[in-house]
Amino acid sequence: MRWRCMAQTAILASRFYGTGACTVKLACPHQFTLLRMRITSMRGTSHDMMRLPLFTKAHGTTRRALNRSPVGSTFRFLATASGTGCSTSSRTERPRRSLFSVPGADQRFITKAQGLKADAVVLDLEDGVAYDRKHAARDLVQQTLLDSSQNFGSAELCVRINGLDTRDLALRDLEAVLPCNRLQAVVLPKVESASDVLFVSRMIDAFCEDRDVRIIAAIESAMGFLNLREIAETAKDETSKAKLDALVFASEDFCADIEATRTESANEMLYARSQLVIAAKAFGLQAIDMVHINFRDLDELKMECEGGRQMGFTGKQAIHPAQIDIINDRFAPSTKELDFASRTVQEYEQTTTNGQGACVVDGIVVDMPVYKWAKKIVERAAKAGML
Ligand code: COA
Ligand code: MG
Repeated sequence: MRWRCMAQTAILASRFYGTGACTVKLACPHQFTLLRMRITSMRGTSHDMMRLPLFTKAHGTTRRALNRSPVGSTFRFLATASGTGCSTSSRTERPRRSLFSVPGADQRFITKAQGLKADAVVLDLEDGVAYDRKHAARDLVQQTLLDSSQNFGSAELCVRINGLDTRDLALRDLEAVLPCNRLQAVVLPKVESASDVLFVSRMIDAFCEDRDVRIIAAIESAMGFLNLREIAETAKDETSKAKLDALVFASEDFCADIEATRTESANEMLYARSQLVIAAKAFGLQAIDMVHINFRDLDELKMECEGGRQMGFTGKQAIHPAQIDIINDRFAPSTKELDFASRTVQEYEQTTTNGQGACVVDGIVVDMPVYKWAKKIVERAAKAGML
């Protein structure tokens, strides 16, 4: 299984680096056979290629041979053709009402995040880190993941890597964080195609073996939206174990990309936000809404949370501690909503047992679609610990 992943990663990595043709033949596990990979036009040096995690994870002898090989060599790998993925439906859902972004270059922020109640803490290596601090941030985030005395409570521990368009930065981020046992999800920014997600899932498969590390994809460009369906559809990809689990709408990069003017009403993003919710729901994914950038205005945040929830978002990004509790609260069902939903479920189930197809709760007709909606509210409340 591991070798198979490496083989796939090799192909992806070679494409990623802008290399030429590579032909691959996978054989049975006990044979030392053929993975012929001819690197015809590699952009980086031989050393760059060897630094790829795939090679650093290779068996010692293989690795030594690879390290001696010049560009243009034909490589031989041991590869197996076995292994299957697991489907999204069989996995437990992780609550992600609040996805809290913590700049990865600053220990002060990382320490602060440990006492907060975010559902997911995202240690950021991307745009929350200045370019000249990228290496230091990567080291600090790796240390944080390795040091279990840094306790984030029940929060899901995630890392936002640099976008795959940065090539070297992104690969080094993955190489640094994927082996860390406490990592639970990779937030992949600026996703524009299914192959972006598939590349990262292969890397996770190769590095994380049986650990359940998931992918959260941020959609931030016109191209990302044009390819949204194929991106979301990777959640059903059976060839890899690591899966896409959520889509995130990234408002600021999106507006910059399409040259929209950011307004208080956020009308300029309505279409894209709706599209994201629809694509996410079609493939069983969570939909996580944009950052509220006017972060000191908490009343405005409450309204934005309401709007997002009404559209079907399941959570929202946070960038400041004061936003977390409000987001958690607004993305859990309200007491009133839960009360109505619970009674709706009970009444409807009673009604159908009695052979009828609809009933009335608080003056509202409850039929199958309303029942389904109410069931989801009750399920969400249970996940938020309200029941
Ligand atoms: N993660 C962890 N702690 C944070 C935090 C964050 N994102 N934002 C603020 N804090 C901490 C501060 O360190 C401070 O801690 P202290 O009380 O121990 O001193 C406390 O929360 C209050 O912060 P405050 O003084 O109100 O804000 P600030 O001026 O320090 O920071 C920002 C404001 C916007 C610079 C900061 O919130 C930030 O960098 N946020 C992340 C932005 C980001 O990640 N952008 C990219 C992703 S979309
Ligand atoms: Mg962004």
